[in-house]
This record gives sequence, C-alpha cells and structure tokens, in this order.
Amino acid sequence: MSSSSVLGPGRTALVTGASRGIGPLIARAIAHEGGHVVLTGRSVTELRVVASELAAAGADVSVVPADLTRPGAAGSLVETVERQRGGIDLLVNNAGGDPLREFHTMTIDENLRTLQLNLVAPVALTHAALDGMLRRGRGHIVNISAMAGRVSFPYTEVYAAAKDGVIGFTRVLRSDYRARGVSASVLILGAIRDAGQGQRMLDESGMKASGFMAPADSVARAAVKAVKKDRAELVIMPGPGRLMRAVMDYFPGLGPALNRAAGASSTMQKIVEQREAETGAAA
Ligand SMILES: NC(=O)c1ccc[n+]([C@@H]2O[C@H](COP(=O)([O-])OP(=O)(O)OC[C@H]3O[C@@H](n4cnc5c(N)ncnc54)[C@H](OP(=O)(O)O)[C@@H]3O)[C@@H](O)[C@H]2O)c1
Repeated sequence: MSSSSVLGPGRTALVTGASRGIGPLIARAIAHEGGHVVLTGRSVTELRVVASELAAAGADVSVVPADLTRPGAAGSLVETVERQRGGIDLLVNNAGGDPLREFHTMTIDENLRTLQLNLVAPVALTHAALDGMLRRGRGHIVNISAMAGRVSFPYTEVYAAAKDGVIGFTRVLRSDYRARGVSASVLILGAIRDAGQGQRMLDESGMKASGFMAPADSVARAAVKAVKKDRAELVIMPGPGRLMRAVMDYFPGLGPALNRAAGASSTMQKIVEQREAETGAAA
C-alpha cells in the first residue's frame, strides 16, 4: 500500500506545471518532506527561477522542461527523469488550465488541446511512470481536478469534461493498483486565490477574492496530506467541500444559480469578451 514512503530522503517526485501558479507551492511542500523534486513546464526561465528559490530555501530540486501537448512528450519526460534520478516515486499531475474562451468560437483543435493538457497528459504520464513504480513496488499519483463541471462554471465545457475525466481515471487507477503498492489521489479544487489562474482572473477584472476561494497553499498542503494519509479524494474549497460537491450533483441547477449570485457569471462573461476581442484583433 502506498504511504508516506514515497516522500522523504532518497525519493523523487515529478511535479508538472511547476513554473507558475499553484505548482511551485506544491513543489515546495513536497520538497519540504525531503527527497528530490523535479520541476517541469514549458517556460525554462520561470522553472529556473522557481528552482533557485526552492534551492535557496534548502530544497533538492532540478528542472526538466516539457510541452505536454506535444506527441510523445510524456514518455520522454518520464524516461529522462528515470534516467537522471533512477525512478519516480511521486507524480503530481498539476499542469492544466483553460483558455477561457467560448467553446464554439474556438476551433476543434484548440478545444482538443485543452483536453490534451488536462486529461490526456496526466493519463500518458501515469502510463509512462507506472511500470517503474510497479517494479519498485511503490508509487503515488496525485491528480489535480476541479469543481468546474460540478458547478457548471461558465465557458469551461472541455476543461470541465477533462477535469471530471481525471476523477474517474484516478478512482479506477487507485482501485486497480493500490494492492500492488501504487496508489492514486485526486484533489478537486474550487476557486483558488493568491496564485494561479483564479487569482489572475481576479487581477484582470480588478475584483477582490471572495469567501468562496481557498488559498493556494491549502492545495499544496492537501497534496502532501493525500500522499501521507493515502486519501482517495480531497475537495479544496472553504466549508464542507465534499458535501458541496455531492449537493451540486444532486441539484445540477444550483451551480449556475450560485455562479450568478456570486457574480462569477458576469465576471467570466467580461473576461471571455475581452479574450475574444484580443483573439479577433490578433487574427
Ligand atoms: N487556480 C484555480 O483557481 C484552479 C481551480 C481549479 C483547478 N485548478 C487546476 O490547478 C492546476 C494548476 O492551476 P494554476 O491555477 O496554478 O494554473 P497556472 O497558473 O495557469 O499554471 C499552469 C501550469 O501548467 C503549465 N502548463 C500549461 N500548459 C502546458 C503545456 N502545454 N505543457 C506543460 N506544462 C504546461 C504551465 O507552465 P508553462 O506555461 O511554463 O508550460 C504552468 O506551470 C491546473 O490543473 C488547474 O486546472 C486551478
């Protein structure tokens, strides 16, 4: 059974999306447990900045850049890390995001890139890392999902599909491999403040964080907790997250009503209009 044995001295974690947003905080929390953390993302300069900040705080880190929307990228990334470090004990599939544009105005290829980044890449990375984990009899995969689909967050059709897909993927993975020493957890994030896409949206719209938003470092703490306590699913939002998620499933009309009441629908509409205008201007 997976446990904290995948964390600590002599262990290696691979954290995707570690160049900005929530990823660097997750990497810092894992590094704090000891062991080596490999940071990945596309932006080499940002990754190096994060790596030097973490190293200055005493962390043992390295950088392997990768674009996870490129064919074969997941396999080569895992191969490189395994060659350099001798194996991967913990994989955190954190890279993700949404272009925040209207579904029908994006081309199908643009929509499929969202699916690739948020669902196909975590599946491919897990597939590539699993053999080594099973051989060593230990491993843990932490996938980052979102409440987006459950609350019908506006303009996130494909993103929501991908993030719900990640939940199903994690559940079955956990059930199939846990007895062989490889476990899996999913963190289901509500809106997050202080770092990441949610905070950037607030900054863009000039709005203040609402009480519905959880701090970014709570995601980092949850990632460590999920591994140490081998938790199947953690919902990261203020209040009774798991209950809220269940209520949203039971009353599918509630999410859109809450989005309207909290002002999320009108804010998102403004952001999407701005994005569409920028895209039109760039074309
Ligand atoms: N922030 C929120 O409110 C919130 C809410 C729910 C769920 N989440 C989820 O939490 C995770 C982190 O989100 P965040 O808010 O921290 O996002 P973010 O600030 O936009 O950071 C996204 C990370 O993903 C990486 N990434 C993007 N495209 C990539 C690609 N093609 N190949 C490799 N890496 C790529 C980015 O690095 P490069 O640009 O360097 O490639 C960056 O490090 C995501 O899975 C997101 O869906 C966030």
